[in-house]
Amino acid sequence: MSDILLRIENLRISFGKDDRRVAAVNGVSLEVGSGEVVGLVGESGSGKSLTCRSVIRLLPPGGEMTANRVLFEGVDVQSLDRDALRAHRAHNVGMIFQDPFSCLDPTKRIGEQIAETLRVNVGLDREAAKVQALSLLEDVGISSPERRYLAYPHELSGGMRQRVMIAIAVATKPKLLIADEATTALDVTTQAQILDLIVRLRREIGMSVLLVSHDFGVIAQVCDRVAVMYGGYVVEFGPVADICNRPQHPYTRALLDSIPTIESAGQRIRRDGIPGQPPSLGEIEQGCPFVNRCSYASDACRTLELSMREVGPGHTSACPVTIGSGS
Ligand SMILES: Nc1ncnc2c1ncn2[C@@H]1O[C@H](COP(=O)(O)OP(=O)(O)O)[C@@H](O)[C@H]1O
Ligand SMILES: [Mg+2]
Repeated sequence: MSDILLRIENLRISFGKDDRRVAAVNGVSLEVGSGEVVGLVGESGSGKSLTCRSVIRLLPPGGEMTANRVLFEGVDVQSLDRDALRAHRAHNVGMIFQDPFSCLDPTKRIGEQIAETLRVNVGLDREAAKVQALSLLEDVGISSPERRYLAYPHELSGGMRQRVMIAIAVATKPKLLIADEATTALDVTTQAQILDLIVRLRREIGMSVLLVSHDFGVIAQVCDRVAVMYGGYVVEFGPVADICNRPQHPYTRALLDSIPTIESAGQRIRRDGIPGQPPSLGEIEQGCPFVNRCSYASDACRTLELSMREVGPGHTSACPVTIGSGS
């Protein structure tokens, strides 16, 4: 394994008041190597976004995090003071989200928004920032950058806005790009283009990527390793090929089985997804969070102490049951 850029150990995030606090993230551990693309996959509400936010210590109001460590290049982000945290957010980590509208200023031309990042975070002067912003527009595949520089966010398509978001996120050449459901709102073709762009920039800039999706198809396409999340836990972690070919946790297997497949006629088959609902916040007090939806569950699963066990080289699973080879 290459150098480790990010290592999260035993991350817990909770909400609520004093003795009424409930855990939304329950002891998540994962790592991202230098230049590596790591996926976070799981149904909505599994704690993916909160886990990402812990990396820049930017939680929603009321959220509290504790962790043994959240190491970024060997430094614990929990120990950063205000200035160091601001620098960490500005230089080390770039973030893109599902909805670029929430991050782009509707009243400002997109070129100016990119240039502003370069002035504020890189310290370029006005002229240099404009030149660099134009070059970034070109890098993210926006044609006629001179013209598009002057456009307002609402004048662009969803895919174009997402490209602008990526330009802003990579403007400071961050060491880690966090893409949280960044392609979810896009049609399949645009989604593929944006994923290609992320992978190309990763190579060119030499950055690592933490890629969040509820869609295993997306994860399988671009990730080196993947952490499968459920109910605030990582239930399986390892090389993406291993996990797709030999899923060890019943939840991972169910998730893989629910990927829509393309029939030869080109018709998209919708699978029914996983029967039942993920647990709601605070519902799981002990045992395996997947127990009520798991076809392999026994009584012991209701009380077991969740821990990751090695099931292959660099491949760990939180389920004590061996479910044999993949589907
Ligand atoms: N601002 C908040 N206030 C209270 N609970 C929250 C808040 N944000 C998230 N949560 C809880 O944490 C869970 C995980 O959230 P999140 O990390 O956004 O999930 P994901 O990104 O996997 O869909 C949510 O289902 C919700 O119960
Ligand atoms: Mg999310």
